[in-house]
Amino acid sequence: MISFGRTYRLLKTEVSDPAKVDAALRDIGLLQRDSAIAKAGVPGVVNALAGEEKTKKLAAYRVQMIGMMRTLLDLEEAVMNQKADDIKKCMAKLDEEEKGGHKDFLPAE
Ligand code: HEM
Repeated sequence: MISFGRTYRLLKTEVSDPAKVDAALRDIGLLQRDSAIAKAGVPGVVNALAGEEKTKKLAAYRVQMIGMMRTLLDLEEAVMNQKADDIKKCMAKLDEEEKGGHKDFLPAE
C-alpha cells in the first residue's frame, strides 16, 4: 500500500490536467490492479481475530475494497470522457474511502 499512496498522490496532480489523460489512466489502472490484490489479502487487524468475528470483519474489509474498486472504475470512465464534475466527485469519494478503510483496518498506533 505504500506505492499505492505514492501513485494516488501522483494521480491527484494528473486528473484535472487534460494533457495528462494517458498518465492518469495508467495510474488508475495500477490502483485498480493493486486494490484487487489487496482485496484478496487479509489485513493484520483481521488476521488477529478468530472465529465469527474474523469472518465478519474480513467480509467488511472486502466490501470496502469493492467500493473503492468501483469508484476507481467510475473514475476511469470520467477521465476517459473528460467529465470534470464526475472526476471531482470520484476523487472526493476516494478520499472518504481511504479515511473509512484506514479507520477500520489500519492497526492502532
Ligand atoms: C485512496 C485510497 C487509499 C489510499 C491512497 C491508501 C494508502 C495507503 C498507504 C500509503 C498505506 C501504507 C502506510 C500506512 O500504513 O499508513 C496503506 C495501508 C493500508 N491500507 Fe490503505 N489506502 C487507501 C484505501 C484503503 C481502503 C479502502 C482500505 C480498506 C478497505 C485500506 C486498508 C489498508 C490497510 C489494511 C493498510 C495496512 C496494510 C499493512 O498491514 O501493511 N486502504 N494505505
